[in-house]
Amino acid sequence: MLSNIEDSQLSVAVSQGEPFIFPTETVYGLGAAADNQSAIEEIYRIKNRPADNPLICHFYSKEHIFEYVDTAKIPPYWNILVKSFSPGPLTYLLALPTDSKLKPATRGSLTIGCRIPNHRIALDIIQRVNKPIAAPSANTSGRYSGTNFEMVKADLGEKVKLLIDGGQSVIGLESTIIDCTQPDKITILRKGFVTQEDIQQVLDKCRFDNIPVEYGTSKTTIPGAKYRHYQPTTPISLVDSIKENKDSCYLVFSNSLQNQTNSITLPIDLKQISSQLYSSLFELDQLHKKQIQLYIDPEFHTLSDHGLYHALINRLNKIVGKEIVE
Ligand code: TXA
Ligand code: MG
Repeated sequence: MLSNIEDSQLSVAVSQGEPFIFPTETVYGLGAAADNQSAIEEIYRIKNRPADNPLICHFYSKEHIFEYVDTAKIPPYWNILVKSFSPGPLTYLLALPTDSKLKPATRGSLTIGCRIPNHRIALDIIQRVNKPIAAPSANTSGRYSGTNFEMVKADLGEKVKLLIDGGQSVIGLESTIIDCTQPDKITILRKGFVTQEDIQQVLDKCRFDNIPVEYGTSKTTIPGAKYRHYQPTTPISLVDSIKENKDSCYLVFSNSLQNQTNSITLPIDLKQISSQLYSSLFELDQLHKKQIQLYIDPEFHTLSDHGLYHALINRLNKIVGKEIVE
């Protein structure tokens, strides 16, 4: 919950149209009331975000989403998804009415990304503001998302007055985004913690077992996909074996190698790697070396039948700038 001081600071920030940073279970967000055009423009300025890249809006309940979207266009399967996955790390693209007040956040688009975050502070904020909160990840465009208070403070602390500390984001990867604008199919537009199998399983248990859950292609993707993402400040490259030298630091996924100086070793555990990937890059950036060597033990790839493995590979490919596998 917010403290009294944070509550009054939040009222000031919202009334003055100043974006604020808040925690969610996926990554921290840089938020503002979704109907406030000038506050939204400020988000783009602070992040240096391309102007055509829309923002996800955060709601506190299913009923809250109903107040803003075009309810006649909600597909029948949506209720069961919300019941199963929200609050949580799943964002639903839904249709907006043509006269929607939320168009500043969607950049004029009549589809909106809706998420109910599973975080007490985030839900408390949305309820207090009593409006959807538009929020991209709290990081300078192109960088890794902030998953703890130190990270967002180091990146955006000089540009944002109100930063709310919620500790470590437990999931650590951005939400899965699915297109729910079609009544007869679901398309995954960004991979995340909620996987294709998770969604298919829920649908298979009810009368929606005929709804396919597909991955989007490069033609059916989100605007954000065309931009660089998740980059550390230090150049990073994938290596087959660690080549120790004074200019390097190391990010290692392995169950057998031990933590060394200037290195962070994460065990081969998908949830642990997800939650610590960005914060590890941040810690390595603080060492100010010339290079980060990323070593992934082949054992990692034995987990390739898990959806979360594919969400991680998607982020890692972008981090190193080439296809690791996939
Ligand atoms: O976990 C998350 O999703 C975090 C937390 C703060 O909720 N937010 C997040 O936002 O990752 P952002 O802006 O970093 O990534 C959102 C992606 C962008 O690539 C954007 O293109 C896409 O979602 N997106 C947002 N609204 C959209 C819309 N109306 N139509 C299509 N794509 C949309
Ligand atoms: Mg982002």
